[in-house]
Amino acid sequence: EKGGFDHFMLKEIHEQPKAITDTYRGRLLRQEAIIKMAGIEDNMKKFLNADRIIIVACGTSWHAGLVAEYIFEDLARVPVEVEYASEFRYRNPIITEKDVLIAISQSGETADTLAAIKLAKSKGAFVFGVCNVVGSSIARETHAGAYTHAGPEIGVASTKAFTTQITVLTLIALRLARAKGTISSSDFRHHLLELEMIPKKVEESLKSDAHIQKIAEIYKDVSNFLYLGRGYNFPVALEGALKLKEISYIHAEGYPAAEMKHGPIALIDENMPIVVIATKKGHYEKVVSNIQEIKSRKGKIIGIVTEGDVQVKELADHVIEVPETLESLSPLLTTIPLQLLSYHIAVMLGKNVDQPRNLAKSVTVE
Ligand code: F6R
Repeated sequence: EKGGFDHFMLKEIHEQPKAITDTYRGRLLRQEAIIKMAGIEDNMKKFLNADRIIIVACGTSWHAGLVAEYIFEDLARVPVEVEYASEFRYRNPIITEKDVLIAISQSGETADTLAAIKLAKSKGAFVFGVCNVVGSSIARETHAGAYTHAGPEIGVASTKAFTTQITVLTLIALRLARAKGTISSSDFRHHLLELEMIPKKVEESLKSDAHIQKIAEIYKDVSNFLYLGRGYNFPVALEGALKLKEISYIHAEGYPAAEMKHGPIALIDENMPIVVIATKKGHYEKVVSNIQEIKSRKGKIIGIVTEGDVQVKELADHVIEVPETLESLSPLLTTIPLQLLSYHIAVMLGKNVDQPRNLAKSVTVE
């Protein structure tokens, strides 16, 4: 049932082109230049009248929420707050009928996320769910929602759930942007076209597998990793670090690249590998200067770069290329090599990739 792969996680990583296609099928209608999502259309007034959108989630789903914050604010110009469900529900949050709460959950069973939904509903907010598991508790508890259609995710470490959550949230942001008039029709069409090409580009990114395996071999025995990214790719850095921690038990931290000089730079020496997401669009020059700072402290640099990159290639110890896309869609590609890197390191260390110690697929207790 692993479809010829050694682990569910690897199978699910490779399923992402199909999963993302399934997620936008019937919703992204490029010919007609529209996005059709029943849960949004039926509740358009609620979204358009919202003073802000609050996103609640845990773990990887929270990282997808952070990516969505950039997309919603950028495209739909609506203020967004992203909260850990566990913190949100216990801090006496200010919620009104003018708030829209989006809960993101692969399993649809996460206890803290479910409790945050109930709290927001009790204050009169409109609650929208982004779940993978059909008929799950969160899918039932929310007023409306959109499924990710990623198919069953068996590996405990979330992979295709993450990229399909980002896909759904991107569709929502684009739909709202169109309704609000915060995106031009040509820009909107361009986004649809680029989003439609993502599955092909994910496929392309997966071809780096053998190269990534070699990098994994070099660094598998270190005890610490840093992951850096800026803008849309800051949450991807967090997600890359989480993936590595979860399945390889190597300590890893994700940081916004510019925060490095406010502390973590003290950790850098010749034993520290640093994964830097340095794709062409979005703060490229600034990330390059962060890479220079790392290099002058002898840190080992693994750059995630756009195909054909030259500048980072000159500075980094290793680069992994991903195809070019819009900045807002880049997390869907930059995530792929990070999933593969953690997978290969964990396998080389002999860890139980699909069922890491101490972890459960759905966290139904708080
Ligand atoms: C990470 C992981 C967890 C989940 C988190 C939320 O790989 O699997 O961090 O993302 O427990 O789970 P869901 O999305 O089911 O609410």
